[in-house]
This record gives sequence, structure tokens and C-alpha cells, in this order.
Amino acid sequence: MQEKELSDNPMDLIKNIETVLNDTLEIISKCFNEEELKTVAPLVAGKHSPLIALRSRLKDIEPNARKEVGKVLTDALEKVNETFHAKGQELALLSELNYEKVDLTQYVASLNSIYGNGLGALHPVTVAQGELEDIFVAMGFSVMDGPEAETDWYNFEALNIPKDHPARGMWDTFYLNTAQPETILMRAHTSPVQVRVMKTYEPPIYTVMPGRCFRRDTPDARHLAIFHQIEGLVIDKDINFGHLAGTIEKFTSSYFGPNIHARLRPAYFPFTEPSAEFEITCTICSGDGCRTCSNTGWIELGGCGMVDPEVFKAVGIDSEVWNGFAFGFGIDRLVQMKYSLSDMRDLTENDLRIMLQF
Ligand code: PHE
Repeated sequence: MQEKELSDNPMDLIKNIETVLNDTLEIISKCFNEEELKTVAPLVAGKHSPLIALRSRLKDIEPNARKEVGKVLTDALEKVNETFHAKGQELALLSELNYEKVDLTQYVASLNSIYGNGLGALHPVTVAQGELEDIFVAMGFSVMDGPEAETDWYNFEALNIPKDHPARGMWDTFYLNTAQPETILMRAHTSPVQVRVMKTYEPPIYTVMPGRCFRRDTPDARHLAIFHQIEGLVIDKDINFGHLAGTIEKFTSSYFGPNIHARLRPAYFPFTEPSAEFEITCTICSGDGCRTCSNTGWIELGGCGMVDPEVFKAVGIDSEVWNGFAFGFGIDRLVQMKYSLSDMRDLTENDLRIMLQF
């Protein structure tokens, strides 16, 4: 009796359709896999579908409203159908992804069982770079970087090394194959970054510039073709060689500990005058002489010197007012000596038996 009353009124029937529609859509949306979706299929089509059941009531409402209510019901059925199929596609894709999923925790677990710690770690050179940056920041220096592909001007000319200067032979350079030959190169040292810093910032300058360098060197026990340097630059008033020696002494003893045995040896660089090389007693043979130090007992860690006035001229700094020092140290070499690695190439081979020791 009550049903009869309800369905007599078209508005009631429409409301009823909407309620059933929303309930059905909600049930479909809550299906989490294809099995569950299958069990709700009877709601969508067939005699158990509550929406289709409502169709029988159409005949009980007045004929002029029947068409409108009929349209609401057809739309509702269509909506359910569409939602059901879209959900089917979504769940099919999910089950495919689930099937193809690779469980990396298994892989890490297997590494763990072999090496004890399957997690990745930073490369020792990266760790050293961070330690050096910290040491210099604590001394009041800032850290900067520059591009690895440089122009000839920054890598050579501005550093007082013109085109036919014999000192160019000190840096066997990789040139990029560009329209104008030998104009763009992979920087052979970090010194072009000090040029960039001096051109960009007003003195006083206290900064270090770590980064990768590239040379056409055949790798050997203490050289790599791609290696890392940390450049240092101080420009201020009344800076002298003592400041340079003190800075190097401070940072090398912070890095290695106080017990290294070091010396500064006169050297030549076109961009510093006077210039020196900083050497320490080879940590592999303790100075007795070995293959790594070519039987000299000493290992060179970097070059340094007072900035040449020609460099100041190139970057537009008045050398009557300002002066300063610069140094460039090999980070790979520092790591090699700290851990007494007899062959620097070991740092590039990614041999886990070596890498896992750091
Ligand atoms: N750029 C020099 C080199 O790579 C090192 C250096 C830097 C020397 C700064 C003096 C001053 O050999």
C-alpha cells in the first residue's frame, strides 16, 4: 500500500532513483579489487538491480510525468554502467601493476645479508669535500663553485697563461669540439673559478671552490683523468706568505690530524709569484720510498702562491691596494694519503670490498 502511494508521486520516485543511484555508486567506489567488483555486478544489471526494479513502478505514475521520470532512470542506469566499467579498468590496471611490482626490500635484504649494510653511502671523495668545506667555513671562508666546461680565457688567459705560453704544457687539456676549435674546454684546474669570483665580488675575499677537473693524463697510482680540486683564494690588504703557509698548515692538520710531516717547496705557476708546492711524507711508505711516491718519499698535495699582479689586472682589481694568495689542492690525493691507498684508481672502480671500508 505504502509503495503504491510512493510511486504514484513522480517526485518521490525521482528521489528514490537518486538515493538508489548514490548508494550503488558508493558500493562500486568501495571495491578494492576485481573480485569485489564482480560481486557487485548484479547491482548494475539484471533483475537484482534495485534501479531496474524501480522501472516497474513507472507504470503507476501519471502518464505525462512518466517520460521525464523514465529519462531520470535511464540516465541513472547509464551512470552506474559507466562507473562500473571505469572502475573495472582502474582495478585491472592496478592488478597489472601489482603483478609487475618489484619488491626492492628483498634486494636490500639480500645485500644486507652479504655486506651487513645494504644502504648506500657517500663516496669517500664526496665525504672529504664536505669535511674540507666545513674546515674552511669554520675559518670564515665561503664556498663557491663554477662551470666544468670553461672558456680558454678563464682557464688560461686570465691566469697569465697566454696561447703560446710554454706553461700550458702543465695542463694537458680536453677541448670541446665546437665551431671555433680550442676555445671551450673541460677545466684543467679549479683556478678559473677564482677568476670568476674575483670578477664578480669586491675584495676582501675569503673563499674556497671545490669541484671536478679534467686532464688528458693517463691514470696511474696517483693521477686520474677526472679528479677533484679545492681552490682557495684570499684577497685582502697586507696579506703575506705567512698567512698562506698558516692557512695551509691549519687546514691540512685539521684534515689529517696533527701528526703529518709537511714541507713547502719552491715551484712555478704563471698566476702566482712566489709559488710553492705543498708536500707531505708519503703515508704509504712513511717516507722510505715506494711505487706510489715514485720512490721520493714525498707526495705533492697541491700548489699555492701569492696572486700575480697580472691576474689582478685581468680581473680589474687594483694590485696597489689589494693582494692575496691562492692554492689548489687535489681532494682525491688528500683522501689517498689519509687512508694510505697505494693506488688512486681504487677510488674509481666501485669495488665494494674497498668502498665498504669507508
Ligand atoms: N691550479 C694549480 C694546478 O692545478 C694549483 C694552484 C692553484 C697553484 C692556485 C697556485 C695557486 O696545478
